[in-house]
Amino acid sequence: MCGIVGGVSTRNIVPVLIEGLQRLEYRGYDSCGVAVLQDGALRRARSTKRVQELATQVQQEQLQGFTAIAHTRWATHGAPETQNAHPHFSGRAHQAPSIALVHNGIIENYEELRAQLITKGYVFESQTDTEVIAHLIHDFYDTDLLDAVKQAVGKLKGAYAIAVFCRNEPHRIVAARDGSPLVLGLGKDENFLASDALALAGAVDQIVYLEDGDIADLQSSQVWLIDRQGQAVERDSQRLAAHSAAVELGPYRHFMQKEIFEQPRAVSDTLDDITSVTPELFGDGAYKAFQEIDRVLILACGTSYYAGMTAKYWMESLVKIPVTVEIASEYRYRDSVPDAKTLVVTITQSGETADTLAAVKHAQSLGMTHTLTICNVASSAMARACALRFITRAGVEVGVASTKAFTTQLAGLFLLTLALAQTKQQLTESQEKDHLQALRHIPAAISAVLALEPQIMAWADRFATRENALYLGRGMHYPIALEGALKMKEISYIHAEAYPAGELKHGPLALVTEQMPVITIAPNDQLLEKLKSNMQEVRARGGELYVFADSDTEIKASDGVHVIRMPEHYGLLSPILHTIALQLLAYHTACRRGTDVDKPRNLAKSVTVE
Ligand code: M6R
Repeated sequence: MCGIVGGVSTRNIVPVLIEGLQRLEYRGYDSCGVAVLQDGALRRARSTKRVQELATQVQQEQLQGFTAIAHTRWATHGAPETQNAHPHFSGRAHQAPSIALVHNGIIENYEELRAQLITKGYVFESQTDTEVIAHLIHDFYDTDLLDAVKQAVGKLKGAYAIAVFCRNEPHRIVAARDGSPLVLGLGKDENFLASDALALAGAVDQIVYLEDGDIADLQSSQVWLIDRQGQAVERDSQRLAAHSAAVELGPYRHFMQKEIFEQPRAVSDTLDDITSVTPELFGDGAYKAFQEIDRVLILACGTSYYAGMTAKYWMESLVKIPVTVEIASEYRYRDSVPDAKTLVVTITQSGETADTLAAVKHAQSLGMTHTLTICNVASSAMARACALRFITRAGVEVGVASTKAFTTQLAGLFLLTLALAQTKQQLTESQEKDHLQALRHIPAAISAVLALEPQIMAWADRFATRENALYLGRGMHYPIALEGALKMKEISYIHAEAYPAGELKHGPLALVTEQMPVITIAPNDQLLEKLKSNMQEVRARGGELYVFADSDTEIKASDGVHVIRMPEHYGLLSPILHTIALQLLAYHTACRRGTDVDKPRNLAKSVTVE
């Protein structure tokens, strides 16, 4: 989604901002731009191509200066065209512009504000909601940019992170946030801001996360903060983690491939020093909260939602309390029956997904105060919004298609299952010990699946020429079939659908012909015999089966039945292993088709708008 970088310095800051934009590219964008104060005038370059093209444009046009802001845009209001790309300018009609602004988020009352500004003589050159903020600030501006921003944000409804500078105050940027993330970077004789700390890696080593309602006044030598009440406020600074190494590609062709292969490390870091299960792994007060609840509501989107679906099987089996899993974007818009004795669990890699954040706030507004998140970013809005948290240690995930974030979420959810089961006295000590041991062994088991890559690549050659695929799974492998199909469609653009195998004959069987590859997840569990019958149904219609079978099943390759033998069945944790194989299949199929694997069309890494 959209990204912001800006800074005030005593040197030409434009190259630093371009590098910052490059670090944010993985989030997904369709246009980009930079604005600078140069020789007393506002100048900008904007592009609907890659940041690299913007860099070339900046060089050709010799854009440079001490004060600058830059942006990557993911279109919401207005097509991805140059006039809609940020930064946006404002000024008096027929005069040089004096305000430059970038914005992340969505302004819900922009139409009303736009109409008011038009009556005041402002001319709009874009279809964006952002441009109203630039004009609004210009309208309020007298002699003090901070004052104008304060007044302008008071008129906004919706979510925003903004950074703005003014021609009349050349060594100053004012930034504000409410609902969209913003972080400051503190340097020597220069200060920065960004929507994601990652953008500032290499430029600074101290950062400050702003809170909702904060406004920051940045100059090269100092930064001042005020809170929503307009009071001067200090926020703790922290060291910027060594993100830079994490975003190097190393020997891999794509970040997605790197991240698939990082999974043994990511899961093992997530489990780190956990040698016994205790509720306190999820924060102080977890034991009391777990005692007080008698059901679980999981809220998440996309891949994280499939992690939640998998956890439902684990929790209902081991904790023996009812678990509901809801797509976050649906939950808050329907009438539901709130129950204070519910543990509301959100799952989110980024911790900034607008739909999931809004869903947990909705649950809280209905009186459900027991909230817990499984999240990969400790400093995220979600980690702050929930009473309890488990921070996965996947590290930065650059590929838009989630891989290591998903498997670390599953590891966190399995621990949560054990902690709940322990609190509800549903596990003996030895059962708990066995489950934890199996979990700790999972990194090695993942490595065994990664070793199947050459066989999976051979399958990918066949898939690359197809336009449709069906995925089948049963029980707790059904969510994994859904996740496999999602991976396939988002990066290879092959239309892929997943069904619980028993559902085939209720409709989707009509799609099965020789042209339809059917990927089947075949673990050696209690549903295997049923699954074999479902496979027969496919073969009888000429469908070609591609089966990931646990090595301790009897399933053998035959005419129209291709088999890759997985390691032996891994019990409740088997979904994690089958996921890895499906990630590799999607990845290599996409490579054969030559798609932009890490930045698939139309998608963004963090979905910070509704
Ligand atoms: O950051 P989150 O986990 O909240 O993101 C949720 C989804 O947007 C995300 O999982 C998305 O579905 C991925 N692109 C899937 O690969």
